[in-house]
Amino acid sequence: MSSNKEDGGWKKFVWNSEKGEFCGRTGGSWFKILGFYLIFYSFLAGLFVGTIQCLLLTLSDYKPTWQDRVAPPGLSHTPRSDKSELAFNLNDLETYLPYTKAMRDFLSMYDEDKQRDQMKYEDCGDEPTEYKYRGDLNSDVGVRKACRFQRSLLGPCSGIEDREFGFKEGKPCLIVKLNRIVNFVPRPPSSNDSIPEAAQYKVRPNVIPIFCTNRREEDAGKIGEVKYYGIGEGFPLQYYPYYSKVLHPQYLQPLVAIQFVNVTMNTELRIECKVFGENIGYSEKDKFQGRFELKLQVTNL
Ligand SMILES: *[C@@H]1O[C@H](CO)[C@@H](O)[C@H](O)[C@H]1NC(C)=O
Ligand SMILES: *[C@@H]1O[C@H](CO)[C@@H](O)[C@H](O)[C@H]1NC(C)=O
Repeated sequence: MSSNKEDGGWKKFVWNSEKGEFCGRTGGSWFKILGFYLIFYSFLAGLFVGTIQCLLLTLSDYKPTWQDRVAPPGLSHTPRSDKSELAFNLNDLETYLPYTKAMRDFLSMYDEDKQRDQMKYEDCGDEPTEYKYRGDLNSDVGVRKACRFQRSLLGPCSGIEDREFGFKEGKPCLIVKLNRIVNFVPRPPSSNDSIPEAAQYKVRPNVIPIFCTNRREEDAGKIGEVKYYGIGEGFPLQYYPYYSKVLHPQYLQPLVAIQFVNVTMNTELRIECKVFGENIGYSEKDKFQGRFELKLQVTNL
């Protein structure tokens, strides 16, 4: 390895060329030290890269392997305002236009002509049925089909006939969806006992029920009748599991429309909507986990 000729040439550049030393060492000695560190750090770098590689190989492409505790899904609604306020005057289009526009925009994702492709979409029925598994997440099936969801299922809240979603009559609609979580299957309540009595009539097979009621004691009886539209008036199980953005690019969440058909006018009402299920929880910190709150005020003066 060491070449005296090279060493000699190199020495001409060092500080103390008479002794043939640089800081008390010969050039050859410096080369050895340099070489040692070079090899040592290359080894460390190799170890590091190798470990990362191994780790990545054990991880699946599409979902984290160690996701044994999935976060319960968030419940989101449209229209949604900063302060969770829905306040409008039914005689003044301007006051509800932002809401109805948000709903039209959101629902355009669900337009029928966007779900025509037979290779990408399939019909999964208008009645709630069992989970629809489309192979293992890691199998090589590739991209999965998505269930269609027809806007017409949302009845008067579909925006098809009534472009104002009931706002003009003071019967506003909301569109609600459960946020998607890869490989998560929501489990319906196992018994009536586990949910509030008022919501029990909504329990039925293969549906995650949603129920809205007054948040405050003092608003009891002021919310009026609440109507629910969608498959089974809740979130039907055949839309689960969701296979990720890569494997399920056309996926459409099932929607539920909620309509307040007889609210007390000119009063601010606090409403809470909640979904119920064995593996659906609520959190003090996250106001949208499994539920949401709404301040609703319909003015007709
Ligand atoms: C829950 O209660 C509703 C009505 O109160 C009833 O129709 C339904 O069968 C009950 N379900 C169970 C699982 O007990
Ligand atoms: C609407 O609510 C009021 C009470 O706030 C009640 O008297 C009335 O009967 C309700 N109308 C309908 C159609 O349910």
